[in-house]
Amino acid sequence: MDVLHDALGRPLRSLRVSVTDRCNLRCAYCMPEQGYRWLERERLLHFGEIATLVDAFCSLGVEAVRITGGEPLVRRELPRLVEQLARRPALRDIAMTTNGMLLAEHAEALALAGLQRVTVSLDTLDERTFERIARRRGLPEVLAGIAAAARLWPGRVKLDTVVLRDVNDAEVDSLLEFARERGIEARFIEYMDVGGATHWTPEKVVSRDEILRRIERRHGSIEEVRERSSAPAERFRLGDGTVFGIVASTTAPFCTRCDRSRLTADGHWYLCLYARLGLDLRALLRAGASTEELARRIAKTWQVRSERGAEERLGERERGPYADSSALREDPRLEMHTRGG
Ligand code: 5AD
Ligand code: SF4
Repeated sequence: MDVLHDALGRPLRSLRVSVTDRCNLRCAYCMPEQGYRWLERERLLHFGEIATLVDAFCSLGVEAVRITGGEPLVRRELPRLVEQLARRPALRDIAMTTNGMLLAEHAEALALAGLQRVTVSLDTLDERTFERIARRRGLPEVLAGIAAAARLWPGRVKLDTVVLRDVNDAEVDSLLEFARERGIEARFIEYMDVGGATHWTPEKVVSRDEILRRIERRHGSIEEVRERSSAPAERFRLGDGTVFGIVASTTAPFCTRCDRSRLTADGHWYLCLYARLGLDLRALLRAGASTEELARRIAKTWQVRSERGAEERLGERERGPYADSSALREDPRLEMHTRGG
């Protein structure tokens, strides 16, 4: 099939589907603790509606869906959605990003339903640091979730760490070890100035180069894995063959290769992590639009997409948080966690 391209020649290939904005953690880089306005429950898409929208996207060339949140596993009966998606032959890749808290409990049902890959967020191996970042306890649960995932999806689990200066940056090596021992790929993510990151400052960002230098000091020379892909992570290899990734979204954004877009749990479609407005697909759907009509609207919108949010922010001199608390109260969809990270 002809893949649909946007105004900058980027294909519409992958879709992140948020199934809830709720979360059982409160990671400080993602959502402010106080005064948060949740999406209204009755506004959330039902699984059938998500499946219809996914069909519309697939008819335009989307082959990969990643289920996100908030925390996707706080949405009840998530394996039923996975099962529905797995029945769609056009989808070659069904993945999920989770904080791992409820993963041990649900991993088997998810694997049976057809989930193919899992990414678990893990910022620290220290309980006190965990509580400091996530503002809740839960490290043992997350570690149990990772163990279950490693068993059920061997070779297809990733760990995502947001590196925060003076919080968890000293743990890069131990997290890399932890992943390596379990046959898991570690990925280190630069702290981004997205919606809920109201405490973001440039000083707290640990850059890709700094992360690489840190790893090199401990593990010796690092070689870059050459590959052509739209995946945001650049991949590197240690002398012993261990591969890890770095997502340099803040210092070296990859907007020119970005083929992803995001569907919020209440059916708003965002073309960029930094977009102020999304297309209300739920309204179209509930007004009775057919799959073909939905696809036409999606195509029209994608064809003129020219967003390069992260690259544009690079040029800003006085860079601070993207949205303040009052803006976030006005529009909860500005929050990172409504857009699935
Ligand atoms: N900076 C970088 N990554 C973030 N995420 C959420 N907020 C941020 C941020 N400010 C990503 C992390 C997390 C996932 C849910 O979303 O990877 O693990
Ligand atoms: Fe929840 Fe993930 Fe956001 Fe943390 S980063 S608050 S786990 S959605």
